[in-house]
Amino acid sequence: MIPFGSSPARYHDEGYAAWLRYAPLPPDRDVLPGRLVVYGKHEAAALELRYGVQRMLGRPLMIGAPSGVTERVLSSAGTALPHSGAIHLGTLIELELDATLKPDGFLIRRRGDDLFVAGADDRGTLYAAFTLLRRLALGQELEVTEEPSTSIRFVNHWDNPDGTIERGYAGRSIFYEGMRVTEDLARVADYARLLASVGINGCSLNNVNANDWVYSTEALPEVAKLADAIRPYGVRTLLSVRFDSPKRAGLATYDPLVPEVAEWWRAKVDEIYRHIPDLFGLVIKADSEGEAGPSAAGRTHADAANMLARALEPHGGVVFYRGFVYDHRMDWRDRSLDRAKAQHDNFKPLDGQFAPNAILQVKNGPIDFQVREPVSPTFLALKETRTVCEVMITQEYLGQQHHTVYEVPWWKDALAYPGVLDVINQNGFVAVCGVGRNANWLGNHLAQANLYGYGRLAWDPSASSEEIAREWAGLTFSPEVSDEVTDLLMRTWPAYEDYTGNLGIGGLTDIIHVHYGPSPISSEHNGWGQWHRSDEHGTGMDRTVATGTGMTAQYPSRIYESLETCPEELLLFFHHVPYTHRLASGSTVIQHIYDRHYAGAEAAAGFVEDWRRLRGRIDERRFLDVLAQLEYQSGHALVWRDAVCQYFSRLSGIPDAHGRVFHEPNRYEAERMTLDGYEVVEVEPWEAASGAQAIALTRASGTATLAWAQEGLFDIAVWHFDPTDGRAEYELRVNRRLIDAWRNSGRFPSTKIDGHTKTRRLVHAVELRAGDEITVHGRREGEDRAALDFLEVIPR
Ligand code: GCU
Repeated sequence: MIPFGSSPARYHDEGYAAWLRYAPLPPDRDVLPGRLVVYGKHEAAALELRYGVQRMLGRPLMIGAPSGVTERVLSSAGTALPHSGAIHLGTLIELELDATLKPDGFLIRRRGDDLFVAGADDRGTLYAAFTLLRRLALGQELEVTEEPSTSIRFVNHWDNPDGTIERGYAGRSIFYEGMRVTEDLARVADYARLLASVGINGCSLNNVNANDWVYSTEALPEVAKLADAIRPYGVRTLLSVRFDSPKRAGLATYDPLVPEVAEWWRAKVDEIYRHIPDLFGLVIKADSEGEAGPSAAGRTHADAANMLARALEPHGGVVFYRGFVYDHRMDWRDRSLDRAKAQHDNFKPLDGQFAPNAILQVKNGPIDFQVREPVSPTFLALKETRTVCEVMITQEYLGQQHHTVYEVPWWKDALAYPGVLDVINQNGFVAVCGVGRNANWLGNHLAQANLYGYGRLAWDPSASSEEIAREWAGLTFSPEVSDEVTDLLMRTWPAYEDYTGNLGIGGLTDIIHVHYGPSPISSEHNGWGQWHRSDEHGTGMDRTVATGTGMTAQYPSRIYESLETCPEELLLFFHHVPYTHRLASGSTVIQHIYDRHYAGAEAAAGFVEDWRRLRGRIDERRFLDVLAQLEYQSGHALVWRDAVCQYFSRLSGIPDAHGRVFHEPNRYEAERMTLDGYEVVEVEPWEAASGAQAIALTRASGTATLAWAQEGLFDIAVWHFDPTDGRAEYELRVNRRLIDAWRNSGRFPSTKIDGHTKTRRLVHAVELRAGDEITVHGRREGEDRAALDFLEVIPR
């Protein structure tokens, strides 16, 4: 029996159905035969077809019996057909079709009134069914032949058995809760269905910072239920393991060359396979960010990977060894050190030493999923090691799903370096994915485009970002809005880059902790190595051979070495330049930083206006959810813009030629208002608050009052802080009249008054007269002291 989800349709308007909504089509779009004939066992595919047809065409798809004469149907196309008017679903062999396709490939063919929906194998058959429905929904020609570019199209989950998710931004784990596998396996199956619908065929079920409970004797029967739930959708299971497990289990060591250690892993792997016979393999993060690894015993990564590979080999399993290995305790004063060199330096010397079933899993860039990085040179440097490309669907450094950032163009950027696409086409893709128990899976309806887009891109890396977005928007909302939604999505990554950090500077967020809001200094003066080396004179990491760390030599071409040939979007990744360095546009670096941050924030404000134009053409629930998300984003883009511009303005001492930085009009600092029950506090980092200060309550409630002297119609923005540990309440009043009231959400990743929690409450069209008093009333809750930065009173 297939453990099918509760119902594929549950919570439609909350986004649960994602792109599998199967919205009703007009009668003239009904171009499908009336019957379905299933050859072999294809429950998931058959159920999907019946469900999709029922929803889109409003009629049942009757099940017919196969009679085994399909060969005649095909060879005599055009003549009388024994199965006239049926969808024939099965593998090429089951349908006796004379075609060869790569594993997972499929074709959809019309012959007279019949439609053949056939896969190279069971998985291909399932993909054929999803594809038929997608093409029907989008009004595309149904006939198609498709093969994946690579066989590895996986997602990695960073879920912990206690139910938390490392870098998860969409609620708790769908897999675990309180050291148990969750009861809601229907949801797990629904998730696998989403994965299958875009061709994702493998899923690791636990965090790379692994907890060994997951593969303990006690847990394996439970964890096997997760594998059972995703198997009907052709999604294979992988588990992450920790390298020191043998020692934690009582051995004296975890040295990979000690026979008892190898034996421990062999027995453990055998045990895992008894519960999950089709396990694809294991994922291992070793010698990275504090995780144990082979270095403790003086062994190499190849020794470690091969030991695991040998244990997996009898079962046909594979070890995915993560290339994300670097020293996070580097001496920042040493200018020759460079985290970006680490992967290449660690793995290049081992090229050729890895077992055939050991695969190196390398992040797209040499640092860590920054908004702009060059491609990791490792892909081209390793000639005899199979390397898969790891990308991130989870928006860890890209606004954590509070911001909309469409990531397909970001991933494609890594594939653009000559030769990289070929390597990855041969080897495969893995994406870190943080779906959680949020009704819409990712915590932001528009972020679903990234999960969809990842699957489509892994299937066909040459697909265009626009085409993928257009498909997704058509399925998720409606084909009628897909151009507008695509246009918006395509502008999000460039905008995010502009208002957070451009020219390849990377890492202007709080590197040490939550990776969300602005904090440029946090990258410097610590061992994590995400330095941008900004000082009074200039900015950027010098990675040249001539004067820097020499990292540019890790690439086959020398384009990054010289200032003349280095693409400007990576300038500060590879070069340290004075702020007065002139770019091709004629602008100086410092002025470019200011201008792009202003342009990015303006673009984010434009998303709100663009989205508003879709009102009435998208169901109200999702329309309003996205509107609120984009409004928040446009406010937080200003937090980013101001923090980064002020930071560099003060550091460089060079003012903005357009006079904007530190001179934003219409702002009234809270610390200069008349305060009752509030005190002035210093904010850390200083650039997160206007004037480096904010106000916070000293008692349960209080007020901040601004005496107003102009007449007219205004928008009022209350810039306040929404920390995690409490939900303070606010009221905005003019004289005594209540204009607006709201409560903090506690959903941002900091307990402090800082750039993570700063946010804007915007009230439109408030009439004001001279002599009015504008008052913000705050009511504290828990540690949330209803802090305020400033009021912005903007004439309309
Ligand atoms: C990032 C992330 C960590 C994660 C690591 C990894 O550094 O912040 O939480 O464990 O990547 O990919 O292993």
